[in-house]
Amino acid sequence: MAGTAGTAGTAGTADTAQFAGQVAGQVAVITGAGGGLGRAHALALASRGVKIVVNDLGNAQGVVDEITAAGGEAVADSTDISDRAAAAALIDDTVSRWGRIDILINNAGILRDKSFAKMDLADFDKVIAVHLTGSVNCTKAAWPYMVEQGYGRILMTTSASGIYGNFGQANYGAAKSALVGLMNVLAIEGAKKGIRVNSLAPTAATQMTDGLIAEDAAELLGPETVAPAAEFLVSPDAPTGVILGAGAGVFAVSQMVEANPVALGADATAEDIAANWERISDLSEHRHLGSAFDQTDRYVRAAIAAGEDA
Ligand SMILES: NC(=O)c1ccc[n+]([C@@H]2O[C@H](COP(=O)([O-])OP(=O)(O)OC[C@H]3O[C@@H](n4cnc5c(N)ncnc54)[C@H](O)[C@@H]3O)[C@@H](O)[C@H]2O)c1
Repeated sequence: MAGTAGTAGTAGTADTAQFAGQVAGQVAVITGAGGGLGRAHALALASRGVKIVVNDLGNAQGVVDEITAAGGEAVADSTDISDRAAAAALIDDTVSRWGRIDILINNAGILRDKSFAKMDLADFDKVIAVHLTGSVNCTKAAWPYMVEQGYGRILMTTSASGIYGNFGQANYGAAKSALVGLMNVLAIEGAKKGIRVNSLAPTAATQMTDGLIAEDAAELLGPETVAPAAEFLVSPDAPTGVILGAGAGVFAVSQMVEANPVALGADATAEDIAANWERISDLSEHRHLGSAFDQTDRYVRAAIAAGEDA
């Protein structure tokens, strides 16, 4: 496994009883929760008193049975979330049943890995349909209810593949990166409406990664080690617009950042860019921008300042 030694931290001393009180009675829809990470999220939230709609094409009822056996409340749903009308019905049915939807975890996913040269574009479309369009379908249906309530927590499931790339995953990486773009905009649009939108970048041993992770690493990477990140990101105290990596009880935020802007003048050429590449690509000082027009303002200010200095 790649990576350097991290910073060891101690588990927090937060008052979990108070946290549980905050989410008890809330209503969550978790897509693709019949196994793997979605199941772990469902069990974790249900144990805190959240009512769960366990969506999956597969073993949704099995997870519902686990939750109810443990004293929780859940219902099974077998909607294919890439079907827009069916995804809308899933959300509408949830609100009809329990009166609200506080939490949506867009987790369902598939893989169709192949090098781009060999990739069938039908597989590209299928991966986009489940990960991106499926998340859009559920989010679009939940959004008006959350606006009406003045409260909502939405979690996208991205991936290091979308943030950094991974061989053979052009379809998956594109879909997972697009979810970050969707989050960025929805975090801004939801800010004044009480809706917070975040992304989880998990790494876990599940059926999806079966055979891809070494056995000794897999022992550390149980999906239950990721679930606390999901719980945190859909809690009342969640941040918004954050990508949180999680796996093996290790957590780290990822961000898009920009280097200090370098003003080369309105008549700058490609040769000028090449000559100044070291400065332009120097990320030793960098900034995360709050929105797209922050970039515009930044460049205009840098251009004016350079003009004044000239
Ligand atoms: N496991 C990892 O290391 C890892 C890493 C990065 C991202 N992820 C993401 O985490 C999420 C969960 O993955 P997992 O590892 O638990 O895999 P998983 O295969 O165990 O879970 C995915 C679930 O989604 C369901 N599903 C697929 N298509 C669906 C559809 N159209 N409608 C409803 N349900 C559907 C599947 O039946 C499956 O149960 C996925 O979005 C995946 O891309 C996982």
